[in-house]
Amino acid sequence: MCGIVGYIGTKQAAPIILDGLSRLEYRGYDSAGMAIYDGEKINITKSVGRLKILENLTHGGETMAGICGIGHTRWATHGVPSNVNAHPHFNADGTITVVHNGIIENYIQLRRMLTDKGYQFLSETDTEVLAHLLDYYYKGNPMETVTKVLHRVEGSYALGILFADCPDQIFAARKDSPLVVGQNQDGCFIASDVPAILKYTRKIYYVDNQEIVRLRADHMHFYTVDEEEIQKESVTIDWDANAAEKAGYEHFMLKEMYEQPKTVTDTLLPRIKDNDIVIEELNMTDDELRGIRKIHIVACGSAYHAGMTGKYVIEGLARIPVEVDLASEFRYRNPILEEGAMVVVISQSGETADTLAALREAKARGFQVLGIVNVVGSSIAREADNVMYTWAGPEIAVATTKAYSAQLVALYLLAMKLGRVRGQIKNKEFVAMLGDLRCLPDQIELLLNNKFKIQKFSNRYIGAKDVFFIGRGIDYAISLEGSLKLKEISYIHSEAYAAGELKHGTISLIEEGTLVAAVSTQPDLYAKTISNMVEVKARGAFVLAVTCEENKEIEKAADYVIYIPETNPFFANSLAIIPLQLFGYYVAVGKGCDVDKPRNLAKSVTVE
Ligand code: F6R
Repeated sequence: MCGIVGYIGTKQAAPIILDGLSRLEYRGYDSAGMAIYDGEKINITKSVGRLKILENLTHGGETMAGICGIGHTRWATHGVPSNVNAHPHFNADGTITVVHNGIIENYIQLRRMLTDKGYQFLSETDTEVLAHLLDYYYKGNPMETVTKVLHRVEGSYALGILFADCPDQIFAARKDSPLVVGQNQDGCFIASDVPAILKYTRKIYYVDNQEIVRLRADHMHFYTVDEEEIQKESVTIDWDANAAEKAGYEHFMLKEMYEQPKTVTDTLLPRIKDNDIVIEELNMTDDELRGIRKIHIVACGSAYHAGMTGKYVIEGLARIPVEVDLASEFRYRNPILEEGAMVVVISQSGETADTLAALREAKARGFQVLGIVNVVGSSIAREADNVMYTWAGPEIAVATTKAYSAQLVALYLLAMKLGRVRGQIKNKEFVAMLGDLRCLPDQIELLLNNKFKIQKFSNRYIGAKDVFFIGRGIDYAISLEGSLKLKEISYIHSEAYAAGELKHGTISLIEEGTLVAAVSTQPDLYAKTISNMVEVKARGAFVLAVTCEENKEIEKAADYVIYIPETNPFFANSLAIIPLQLFGYYVAVGKGCDVDKPRNLAKSVTVE
């Protein structure tokens, strides 16, 4: 979330710091600032908003001359995002300045103690106590001062500190908040994460808990909090596949979420031609498509959830009955497949054992199987009679995001194609729907770029015990996926319910403060879902609503609302799922979970 970059050397510091901070932008922040020593004094520029503003204010760093400095991107915890709350923070005469990631837990006591001693606070942050505490202990020896401060503070921190009296040094320290330092022939660097400085050096030292680093232009020394010097080994960071493929994102999951606009475009656009939908891979004539009497969708996990949405969309647009089965059930339940049935299996990996077995079962009974598959050449792709590829590219994070989004749009295309040839969708409506499909990538991007609202909200639920997701119709399908995203990576118990089912048991689980995420994207069902929200709220739930911009009525029943842009209600899943993916992701990150590789899970479930 917050980012730190510092530099001391022979080059101008500000452009290096700005560049480093830009590589940490993906973590999320709401303000940015820099402190640079200009040869006489420390100058500070900071601003609420994007890093671009800081870049403009300083002309890309040019107006802040100096070869020693620290910079920060802040994600507000104590105190609103504002210029004054932005880092760096400084003592009364601006001779000591500090940037900080983490939370000083005893800041209230420290602030009281310092206020009693006459210190005046400008900001609402916990970090400002550090600047004044450093001032309080400073008697000309910065190292001793830093150690004294670290003995006084409780909580977590990664720190960068400048003393105007010692402009040839930067001090850094860490406890429970990541920090690395690095060196090249031009200077030494500090950063809260390796990508920030990888452009300048691959020689990295990981700072351990309760260690202090004193950096000079040409060397650095490591100390314990008791000022004992320690020796550390550097690590040479290769441009390994992981780092390269993550492209600066903290996790593959985040990167893959950000790839969704492209994934959706790649899956949609090649199949939209001259205001028509052409799915060559179906290998079926229009007459054959008209002859379909029933569709069986079979899949596991998120692919099953995509299939659930597919049921609502296909039934709604093409008026063909659809049954959706979990592959592990389908294969053993002796399903009734009648003439005219079409079997569709959905799988990202194309290797899921149960889905493959279901495909074989259907084929053994003489039915043609359409595979909606991501991995080209996978078992399901090879064994299905026809394959409609989702062009999501490699998905690395165990929790699927972009492949799920691609599966959704593949199903929309199928539904529209069927609806069109069966005369269920009028020309004008069809063209309008194509327009809505084309808008999805930009709308997804918009939601991703507005992630800060959900990111901030997620922080409150890191300690949640249970979370419930509710919705009706397509919103129920979205809820299933939203709930899975949260639980599989954050390990928080979560369940999805059809909103109308609550009264039949689940509502007894709602306690004071229980989070209920209500998904409401279907105009016909707005009022019904609001009633269910009111019911849970009356029993103490905190209600997060994900709904469409027009549904302002929901604000009466919700405690927190995330709006999605306007689209055809059949396509709403593609938009509503984005904040829910982000929610699951940020809760898991906040809990320190291994987001890309959740415990007990594998990307491809090749065993039954
Ligand atoms: C959840 C997830 C899994 C998969 C499921 C099916 O985030 O990724 O639930 O959706 O294991 O996998 P595929 O699509 O490879 O058949």
